Amino acid sequence: MQKISLNIEKALGAITKAQIYAQAPQITACNKTLENGTGKGNDFLGWLHLPSSITEAEIADIQATANQLRSKCEVVVVVGIGGSYLGAKAVIDALSGSFDSLQNKKPVVVYAGHNIGEDYLYELSNYLKGKSFGIINISKSGTTTEPALAFRILKQQLEETLGKDEAKTRIVAVTDKARGALRTLADKEGYKTYIIPDNVGGRFSVLTPVGLLPIAIAGIDIKQLVAGATAMEADTASSVSFEENLSELYAATRNELYKSGKKIEILANFHPKLHFVSEWWKQLFGESEGKEHKGIFTASVDFTTDLHSMGQWIQEGERSIFETVISVAQPNYHVEVPCDEQDLDGLNFLAGQRVDHVNKMAELGTQQAHVDGGVPNIRIEIPELNAWYVGQLLYFFERACGISGYTLGVNPFDQPGVEAYKKNMFKLLNKPGYE
Ligand code: PA5
Repeated sequence: MQKISLNIEKALGAITKAQIYAQAPQITACNKTLENGTGKGNDFLGWLHLPSSITEAEIADIQATANQLRSKCEVVVVVGIGGSYLGAKAVIDALSGSFDSLQNKKPVVVYAGHNIGEDYLYELSNYLKGKSFGIINISKSGTTTEPALAFRILKQQLEETLGKDEAKTRIVAVTDKARGALRTLADKEGYKTYIIPDNVGGRFSVLTPVGLLPIAIAGIDIKQLVAGATAMEADTASSVSFEENLSELYAATRNELYKSGKKIEILANFHPKLHFVSEWWKQLFGESEGKEHKGIFTASVDFTTDLHSMGQWIQEGERSIFETVISVAQPNYHVEVPCDEQDLDGLNFLAGQRVDHVNKMAELGTQQAHVDGGVPNIRIEIPELNAWYVGQLLYFFERACGISGYTLGVNPFDQPGVEAYKKNMFKLLNKPGYE
């Protein structure tokens, strides 16, 4: 099996290889701090050895629940927000057919609780009318406003349609083992439940049932996903040399770029299915590092789509950015440019070539243009889009994020800043206790 790879050659210029390698002792020390559990936020390191510690029995149990919901439901609504939503969405989008939901592939996975849109909830509820559906409610606290609101509405609809007893067989709660409103409700109602471990924060939870259950429901091979992550867990251990250790090398390169004044990292992809991998990555790094008035701002673009919008800014805007590009080496399918007798669009020079070749040349041309325009480029290559490589990619980023946060000197595993808006909102809504 091949591995994902990392190329930092086009990031050099603004910074040198010597500068990156000079960081190796500090970066490896940060990786060791993660492993020894002696750094900030060390009560949230459950993700570190999670892939290698997931048992066959745990996978089988998640798969059995997924199979049961798959057999009963035309639609499964995954309720959750932030770390309780983005991992599953990222993997499902990356590994499903682009038009699956339009082709009656069952079950259709839809999402709720990731916004407070009244129209969204109305339209979802309307869509579910007359359909056989189930709900996975994912919330560690059980009191996060967005998912709690959505779940209340959906639960009521399911119970009204099927009766309380049947509804219970179609609701699964993924939550804290002992605490919180959702745990209390699930125990009271007798829902099937899965535990979000105490020592795994939301943005690091994709390989817990938070991600694995929805991903299995979407028909994706979670065993392969975990196996890919497990391989990367071994490959990014502090005992692996700096030059071979992708997470250490990535953390060192982005931190050196940050020190040189590149304050924004743009994650770019050339594959439309990776949009939500970028959304997941933005939360992972943004929420982990953006504190104490420090941290790289994480942004993302989908290429070539956004070359027709943000391309101008990236090429000629303020030079405070660097790009990390995720490239998929081999597409899963084969489409060639056809010959056209009239050739009015002038594309016959490409006739017989694969569409992916055109995409790859767009990628190369973009890299050259952006690097020439003063945008350092880090390139991550995935051999192909499958569960094994996506598992590798997720863990590669998680490990790099932990190392990078420690290098920056922050606690990468807390998120004190996210409470500010909630306090104001609760006060404005006259929530008891917030007067
Ligand atoms: O990463 C995080 O901690 C957050 O994004 C949370 O996952 C998110 O706010 C959802 O919280 P909860 O799972 O408690 O509903």
